[in-house]
Amino acid sequence: GTDLPLTGLRAVVSTGGTQEALDPVRYLGNRSSGKQGLAVVRALAAAGADVDLVAAHVDVPLPQQRTQTNGGPSMGVTRVGSALELKEAMEASAHDADIVVMTAAVADFRPAQVAGTKIKKSTDNDDAPVIQLVRNPDILRSLVQQRQDQARDQLIVGFAAETGDDQNDPVSLGRQKLARKGCDLLCVNQVGTDLVFGQDTTAVTILAADGSEPVTVAGSKDDVAQALTEQIVRLHQRSH
Ligand code: C5P
Repeated sequence: GTDLPLTGLRAVVSTGGTQEALDPVRYLGNRSSGKQGLAVVRALAAAGADVDLVAAHVDVPLPQQRTQTNGGPSMGVTRVGSALELKEAMEASAHDADIVVMTAAVADFRPAQVAGTKIKKSTDNDDAPVIQLVRNPDILRSLVQQRQDQARDQLIVGFAAETGDDQNDPVSLGRQKLARKGCDLLCVNQVGTDLVFGQDTTAVTILAADGSEPVTVAGSKDDVAQALTEQIVRLHQRSH
């Protein structure tokens, strides 16, 4: 039916961890499983949105692609490797999206040089290579910039993992990040050491740029995705 709250809207969701090549067989990666982003994809699709998933490395099965049918909304799936590939895919897909969710764990740095052939150890000494890194672009910020350049009516959502520090608790660090990134919603994972990555349960606080009360969710990644989708629906309905 057409009575779902996000019917007719297009959402693009990134998930998984980027892999930054060192040579043809090696990369720098991270422990992101992709589970949270896939939960967001399911929740948005269940609310009626057409979803484009942009998946970096994930540890779990991806949804099936499907075109729009009477039975429900469409699902597109694009695979990427590196942060630069993710940026290109997200910018292309976000171009005509109503909702953008950056769940992916993007590497902050990539090797400055990618060797064209496999890096070998020397047979006549014990030398080890030194890997120089360069910064990757902040994709979330560039998507906010793209929205501004297009003067587009679009909701942009970021994720953050915060441990807090001596001066700030995780939520106030999240508030600062929300302002810095310029997105509409920020899901702040309150992380200890290995509490979140690869786990099935999580604790997040959803912060909104419109100053509304933060929403805290402790539960499964599907619970978090459901609460986030409710916030997306709320913000969408407020502006339409
Ligand atoms: O700055 P931080 O990495 O904590 O920000 C996390 C948020 O920014 C996530 O939504 C993540 O997907 C996004 N991000 C990005 N590009 C980067 C780093 C993070 O889009 N290079």
